[in-house]
Amino acid sequence: MKQRENFSSKLGIIVATAGSALGLGNIYRFPCEAGANGGGAFLIVYLIVALLVGTPLMISEFIIGRRSKSNPIGAFRILSGKHNAWPVVGYLGVLCAFLILAFYTTVAGWTLGYLGKSIAGHFTGQDLGQIQQQFTDFTNHPWWPLVCQVIFLALTAFVVARGVKDGIERFSKILMPLLLVIMVVLCINSLTLSGAADGLRFFFHPDFSKITGRVLISALGQSFFSLSIGMGALITYGSYISRKDNMTSSAISVVLADSLVAVLAGIIIFPAAFTFGIQPEAGASLAFTTLPMVFQQMTGGYFFCLIFFLLLVIATLTSTISLLEVIVAAMTEEFKFTRPKAAVIGALGTAVIGILATISFRTGSPLHINGQTVFDLLDHVTALYFMPIGGLLIVLFVGWKMKRTDVLDELTNGGTLRQGIRMAIHYLIRYLCPVAIIVIFISQLVR
Ligand code: TRP
Repeated sequence: MKQRENFSSKLGIIVATAGSALGLGNIYRFPCEAGANGGGAFLIVYLIVALLVGTPLMISEFIIGRRSKSNPIGAFRILSGKHNAWPVVGYLGVLCAFLILAFYTTVAGWTLGYLGKSIAGHFTGQDLGQIQQQFTDFTNHPWWPLVCQVIFLALTAFVVARGVKDGIERFSKILMPLLLVIMVVLCINSLTLSGAADGLRFFFHPDFSKITGRVLISALGQSFFSLSIGMGALITYGSYISRKDNMTSSAISVVLADSLVAVLAGIIIFPAAFTFGIQPEAGASLAFTTLPMVFQQMTGGYFFCLIFFLLLVIATLTSTISLLEVIVAAMTEEFKFTRPKAAVIGALGTAVIGILATISFRTGSPLHINGQTVFDLLDHVTALYFMPIGGLLIVLFVGWKMKRTDVLDELTNGGTLRQGIRMAIHYLIRYLCPVAIIVIFISQLVR
C-alpha cells in the first residue's frame, strides 16, 4: 500500500482540524440554535458539553485514526480484529458525512451568493424589511441558490482531488486567523449598538428553568456538529497525524478556538438582532438578515461585509473539504477508486441530495417529509441521531474495546508525554462521555 501522507507539523493538525471545525456551524448554526433554545441556557450547556464531552471524543477519534492509519471504515476493522460489526460505525460515519455535506452545501451556496451580493452592494441603505425580503427572494430564486451550491461543491471536489497537504493545509493556515480578527472588530461594533445590553443578557444570562431535554440534545448535537466529531471525520484527520505530535493539546486548542468563535458570533449577532428588531428564534435566516443589517449601519460597512463573506466562504470551504475527505478516503482505500475519481463521484452524489435540500427550502415547496423540509430533516437526523450515536460508539470503542495499554500509548506518545491530564481524559472517555451522551439522548425521547 502506498505510504499515507502526514500533516507537516503540529500546527498542521491544529490548522487543518480547526479548518474543519470552524465554519457555518459556528457562525450560522450556533446562533440559530442558541436563539431557538433560550440563549444563555443553551450557551452554558453547550460550553460544558464541548469541553467535557467534545474534547475527549475528539481525542478518541485522533487515537483511532493515528493507531490505524486508515479511513473510518478500515480503522475499525484494523483495530477491532476481523469479523465483527465495528466497521459499521465507519460506514455510518461516511453516510453521515454525505448527509451533512448535502444540506451544508445549501447554506455554503448562500454564503457564495451573499459574497456576490456584498460585492454588488445590495445591502447598502436597505432597511430591515428589504434585507429580509432579499433573503426570501434569494433562497426562493429558481436557479441562483442551485448555481452557487454546485460551484461550491465543484470547488470542494477540486481541492480534495489534489490531496491532503497541498489542498487542506495551505488554504486554512493564513485565513482563519484573519477571520478571527474581523470577528473581533464586528464584536466591538455590536457592543456599541443600542440593543447591546438586551442582546448580551439574552445570550449570557442562563435561565436554568429553560433547560429541557430538547435544549440538552440540541447543545450536544451542536457541539458535535461544530467540532466535526461523532462521525469519523477526525479519524481520517487523525490518520494523517505523525507519531510525535501531541494530540491532547492539539484537541484542546481546537475546542477552545472553536468555542471562542461561536461565542464571538453570538456577541456579534444577538446585540444586533435586539437592536434591529430581529427575533432570536428567526432560525435559518437569523445570520443572513442580522449580519447585512450590521454591515449596512457600520462605517466602512461595504468593505467589512465583503471581507467577512469572503472569509466565511473560505471557512466554509475548509469544512466542506473535510466532509468530502471522509467520503474520498473511504472510497480510495476501501474500494480502490483514484482520488480524483472519488472526489468527482462523491461530489456528484452529494449534489443530487443537496439540490433537493435547497429546493425544499423554498416557500411552499412540496419537498416535505413528516412536516419537515428535506433541509431540516437532514440537519436534524444527523445532529440529533447520527452524531450522538456515532460519538457514543466511538468513545465506547476507545474506552472499552481497544486495549488500555494501546490507548495510553497513543495518549502519551509511547510514554514520552506526562500522564496526569491524559489519565483524566481516559476516564472521561470511559465513563463520563458514554453516560452523558446516553442520558442526554434519552432525555430528548422522554419529553
Ligand atoms: N464543523 C463544521 C462547522 O462547524 C462542519 C463540519 C465539517 C462537520 N466537517 C464535519 C460536522 C464533520 C460534522 C462532521 O461548520
